[in-house]
Amino acid sequence: MAVVTTPGFRKRGMVDRIEGMMNDRIKIVLDVVSSYPSLESIDALRGVDGLDALDAIVALGGGSSIDMGKALSRLASSARDEHPSGNLWDIVNQDGIADIPVIAVPTTAGTGSEVTPTATVWDYQNRIKRSLSGDDLFPKVAIVDPVLTHDLPVSLTVSSGLDAISHALESIWNRNASPISLAVATQSLRFSLHALPRLKADCSDYEARTHMMQASLMAGMAISQTRTALSHSLSYPLTMEFGIPHGVACSFALPEILGFNLMSDDGRLERLATEIGFESVDGLEYRLRELLESSLSPLEPFSSLSCNDLTEDLVNRMYAKGRLENNLRDVDSGDLIQILRDALDRYGVR
Ligand SMILES: [Fe+2]
Repeated sequence: MAVVTTPGFRKRGMVDRIEGMMNDRIKIVLDVVSSYPSLESIDALRGVDGLDALDAIVALGGGSSIDMGKALSRLASSARDEHPSGNLWDIVNQDGIADIPVIAVPTTAGTGSEVTPTATVWDYQNRIKRSLSGDDLFPKVAIVDPVLTHDLPVSLTVSSGLDAISHALESIWNRNASPISLAVATQSLRFSLHALPRLKADCSDYEARTHMMQASLMAGMAISQTRTALSHSLSYPLTMEFGIPHGVACSFALPEILGFNLMSDDGRLERLATEIGFESVDGLEYRLRELLESSLSPLEPFSSLSCNDLTEDLVNRMYAKGRLENNLRDVDSGDLIQILRDALDRYGVR
């Protein structure tokens, strides 16, 4: 069994606790996960001794650790049959080969990766974000305990919470939505829209931590069925090029995207707004603006970005395959630029 985590969890004694609980079953500890894991960081795992004998992977941490655990499952499954050489991407991108179970233990409330069949890998050489996907990437077990988020600082609590809110909304304004995914995402938003402002005011609010963890899990379940859409599609180049945290990049334009998708509403957005306690979509849009503006100012996430950076090349890279076409309303580059400009204007980015 292997543990995949960040150096921080090793330092804080969490890995020792897991090793103690598992007697001598933990054979490999990979405390090497960094934010936004690269292809190279996964490639580096190929040289680890004992990979071909792994029987389970415990992925402890935020989305990066869990995604790394999923990629390791494919890599180690492949190593069992043959010692893989050649292109790392060709190995880990083989749908269906992961047969080493991943036990996901999220320590943030946001990514929902513990219940999704996808993993994000950053290809810094080609300056693109890549996605692994396939049912073999669903973790076998998810241990979801809000106690594990207690020590999360406010900035990470907010940015990961915004990711969960984005997941829920993205699954609703999504062409793949079903009555089940809509119900789960609606319940997720009922929790998150109240819990996140409470956590911003008091990070030790245990009930709010619990609701946020549930919201993240449910939003993850919803996007596991629908995938994400416009808001995530436009976020990836902003994270890659300007270092804007994922949770911020995929949420800062939610009010504008809500307004944009409202033009193609088949009734689901009006229904969502009333089901979570607003009189109309306007009320929901106002709440989102309020939440984002009060949450993002202390993060100063846009300091390295100006509207001049919205070049044709950057906007073209916002057409993420498997994401943008899920959006309820068709989007062209003119729409994208307008959404970005309107959103950035609210944060004073000119
Ligand atoms: Fe996300």
